[in-house]
This record gives sequence, C-alpha cells and structure tokens, in this order.
Amino acid sequence: MIEFHDKSIIELYVNGDLKTVAARPADTLLFILRESLGLTGTKNSCGNGDCNSCTVLLDGWPVKSCLMLAVEAVGHEITTIEGLQDVPMQKAFVEKSAIQCGYCTPGMIINSHALTTIYPDASDEIIEEWLESNICRCTGYKEICEAVKSVINM
Ligand code: FES
Ligand code: FES
Repeated sequence: MIEFHDKSIIELYVNGDLKTVAARPADTLLFILRESLGLTGTKNSCGNGDCNSCTVLLDGWPVKSCLMLAVEAVGHEITTIEGLQDVPMQKAFVEKSAIQCGYCTPGMIINSHALTTIYPDASDEIIEEWLESNICRCTGYKEICEAVKSVINM
C-alpha cells in the first residue's frame, strides 16, 4: 500500500481484474466501485445497510458494499453485477418480468445468484428468508421469488 496525501494506493481484485485505485481510509467499497472504477451497476440507495441494493460478492459471499471499507476488500475477490455475465439468474429475472424500475435489481440478482451457489437446494422458505434483506419499492416480490425458484429448480 503506497500512501498519497490522505489517500492510499490499493489494489482491488474486481471481476477477474486487478485494479489500482487511490482510496481514503474511510472510503466505502461502494464508493470506490462506483466513483473510481465506474462500476455503477452496484446501486447506492440507503447507504446504511438496510436495503441490499449495493450487494456485491466477496469471495463468493454477498456483502453490503456500503458497509465495507474499500481497504477491507484488499486481497479478496470482488464480483459486481458487471462480472455476472450470462448467469441463469439474470435471464430468469427477465423471463419472469421480475423488474420494474430496476434500481434494486443488481442487488437482487447478486444476492439470488449467491443463494443458488451456497444453497443449491434451497426451499421456498429459505428463498423468501434470504431475500428479506433486499428492499424493492416497485414489485410485490412474487415475480422475484418465481425467478429465483425457477433457477433453483433447474
Ligand atoms: S445502499 Fe447498502 S444496504 Fe442500502
Ligand atoms: S424494481 Fe424498482 S425498486 Fe425494485
């Protein structure tokens, strides 16, 4: 880590590529992803850990990037929605019309994709409990749950 004024130069492993960025100690991973790396698919909504719109994968596990410091992510494998190309969950959301304004959708897809890799046989109860942390202001969750179930039951 190289210190540069109030920032440090850090390396983040994002979507398979090593990225070098300047980060302040208090910069969140969400801020660096969006503002320094231009990965705006990760959404900032509550900024407070309440909505999951900012979810990314850290070594395959979903984390709220608004609650994580960028420096804490050094040495870990970060996957954003841009790095989830052509996974079944993306297609399922489209096929089941599980999108309205789309603001919550990247976080929903990232978290749902993680569920299918961590609990490939998840029951309906686990699916619903897993998605409780993702807030959507538009849909009734019915289509979202149907999309996730369609991938689990593939
Ligand atoms: S923006 Fe991170 S949980 Fe809402
Ligand atoms: S589709 Fe609009 S917030 Fe979820």
